Amino acid sequence: MSSAKRPVVGGRLYHIMVEPGAVPRYVLLPGDPGRVPKIAAYWDEGREAARNREFVTYVGRYRGVPIAATSTGIGSGSTAIAVEELLAAGADTFIRVGTTGALRRDIKIGDLIIAQAAVRWDGASRWYAPPEYPAVAHWKVLESLIEAAESLGVRHHVGIVASTDSFYVGQERPGYGGYLPPWARGLVETLRSLRVVSFEMETATIFTLASIYGARAGGVYAAIANRETDEFVAEAGVEDAIKVANEAVRILAERDSR
Ligand code: URA
Repeated sequence: MSSAKRPVVGGRLYHIMVEPGAVPRYVLLPGDPGRVPKIAAYWDEGREAARNREFVTYVGRYRGVPIAATSTGIGSGSTAIAVEELLAAGADTFIRVGTTGALRRDIKIGDLIIAQAAVRWDGASRWYAPPEYPAVAHWKVLESLIEAAESLGVRHHVGIVASTDSFYVGQERPGYGGYLPPWARGLVETLRSLRVVSFEMETATIFTLASIYGARAGGVYAAIANRETDEFVAEAGVEDAIKVANEAVRILAERDSR
């Protein structure tokens, strides 16, 4: 019988449906399940290892390095579940591969953003640590992402992102019928004055949990929206973000092996 504290089904972790020990240390984390095979398309070899709800996992090799990719779904709740279960499955290094809404005019649609830290406006990380606890990238992952972007010649910006669980009102987009309560008005301007570079929805959770558990995390995002110029192009820059994340794993693995 499985324990209520650590649920497993047929020997597999309850949500991601991966067996403990079945993933390598390096795991890429897109939100979208459809992005997992796109990530694996750059690998030497890869296969679907599990599929359940929003969680799709592929395992394989990228330039000889064992690698996996698991989709987290959108927002902090499912992301915390994915990180918890992936740690139990053998991961210790996470790279979020996502999309983002830029807050600066000079960040063009399709540019990449690499996160050095995240504002913790998510829900899940509050259950893990007090609000004063920072959500920071691991310096080695950050360094590898920057090096990967530079070596691939991709336009990129490094900065602090803001993670919210709400794409609309929580990112100061009017909700249904124009609903925008007083507490959501001015969010964009507030973050801009704090030099936060963009909005996204999962990084604070990943960085906080990784730090607490002694794991490592970083994140790279394609700017598909710009809140200053009011532009939006779905999927702009996503292939570049995928290439940079995969290449960062190769760089990290080479350094880890030294
Ligand atoms: N993802 C977000 O969370 N916000 C955006 O504006 C674009 C992508």
